[in-house]
Amino acid sequence: MQPSGWLWALVAVCVADTFRDEAERIMRDTPVIDGHNDLPWQLLKMFNNELLHERANLSTLQGTHTSIPKLRAGFVGGQFWSAYTPCDTQNKDAVRRTLEQIDVIHRMCQLYPETFVCVTNSTGIQEAFREQKVASLIGVEGGHSTDSSLGVLRALYHLGMRYLTLTHSCNTPWADNWLVDTGGDQAQSQGLSDFGERVVREMNRLGVIVDLAHVSVATMKAALRQSRAPVIFSHSSAYSLCANRRNVPDDVLRLVNETGSLVMVNFYSYYVSCQEEATLSQVADHLDHIKKVAGAGAVGFGGDFDGVSSLPVGLEDVSKYPDLVAELLRRKWTEEEVRGALADNLLRVFRAVEQVSSHMQIPEEKPIPWDQLEGSCRTRYGYSEAPSLHRGLGALLATLALLLSGLCLL
Ligand SMILES: *[C@@H]1O[C@H](CO)[C@@H](O)[C@H](O)[C@H]1NC(C)=O
Ligand SMILES: *[C@@H]1O[C@H](CO)[C@@H](O)[C@H](O)[C@H]1NC(C)=O
Ligand SMILES: *[C@@H]1O[C@H](CO)[C@@H](O)[C@H](O)[C@H]1NC(C)=O
Ligand SMILES: [Zn+2]
Repeated sequence: MQPSGWLWALVAVCVADTFRDEAERIMRDTPVIDGHNDLPWQLLKMFNNELLHERANLSTLQGTHTSIPKLRAGFVGGQFWSAYTPCDTQNKDAVRRTLEQIDVIHRMCQLYPETFVCVTNSTGIQEAFREQKVASLIGVEGGHSTDSSLGVLRALYHLGMRYLTLTHSCNTPWADNWLVDTGGDQAQSQGLSDFGERVVREMNRLGVIVDLAHVSVATMKAALRQSRAPVIFSHSSAYSLCANRRNVPDDVLRLVNETGSLVMVNFYSYYVSCQEEATLSQVADHLDHIKKVAGAGAVGFGGDFDGVSSLPVGLEDVSKYPDLVAELLRRKWTEEEVRGALADNLLRVFRAVEQVSSHMQIPEEKPIPWDQLEGSCRTRYGYSEAPSLHRGLGALLATLALLLSGLCLL
């Protein structure tokens, strides 16, 4: 190498370090709030949720993308932990499994109080920042977790759920999932059914963020139209850079801008590059694109750590966020834009959701019609005495009366 070559290499190294130092300086008072992490699912799979298992110690946990030292190194200050149960639990034990995943998140906060603090509002997140703890929030991943019940939805809210992803990778009786757009599933609700619209209204009333990761494009548009508060995509990337239906197309990104909503970019290699391999720089391309189309206020991070099988080179676990932030600074993002992507955009959306919520307003009561429910293990309580049956009985009596009056005429 020529001397000038050495010099350039040295300059490159020094500049790289400068961006990384700058990233850490910013993240010391604006740590990242990540939209989606599946550590609770790993805890179920690896330890059947036994947190006292010797190898389950979160300070020394191995073989996962997430641990306490990695969260600290990554300047993670807020995390929506995913309370996830797979679609094959739909119409079976989905509600029980969801409650157990919520419980394991509560127990994480209880067992590691020096690291995690479970919070349920935007003020709580900011207090956690000041105390240098990881504000821990609960996102329920998939409408099947509610078993199509507004009562269950409200109970999950009381247990701390602050976003609900309307579907996972299966339709619910009231919302279509992204596989409808690949031809893998049949459209059922053409977006949201009437009941699906009631679910969104009730989420608005409660103050639960509507999450549109995993839903079909028709569901995205229906929910963006229906919701009175901004929505999020807790872990989705840009469709125009990687044509996977889990990603958000540009026309929806424009609606995201118009509604003040938020796209938290998913790092799964397959959603970033549409291939098995991807790089940190390609993740930054998604952030750049969403910023260009939806605005700097519409960008966030939703890494999907511990929920995916492959991650980009340079973003192998939750400790790597400062490297991604350094890359954004290298790409001339302003400090304000970076703070937005890290935390301020999510805080803005969450505050707007809290503003719209109104616990004084009367809750939605009208349940899903019986004939829209699926599965054979249900009891019919309530429905068997429901007005529709009275109507049926009324019609029967009216027919009888008609028949009798007919007889009298003879
Ligand atoms: C985890 O391990 C650390 C040290 O290795 C220990 O101090 C701590 O008490 C353990 N925590 C739990 C909950 O077992
Ligand atoms: C936010 O949550 C905290 C508990 O973390 C609670 O004390 C506080 O009252 C809540 N604030 C609002 C505005 O609801
Ligand atoms: C939406 O776009 C407008 C115009 O480009 C921009 O000023 C605004 O900040 C964007 N909104 C968000 C949330 O980024
Ligand atoms: Zn997911």
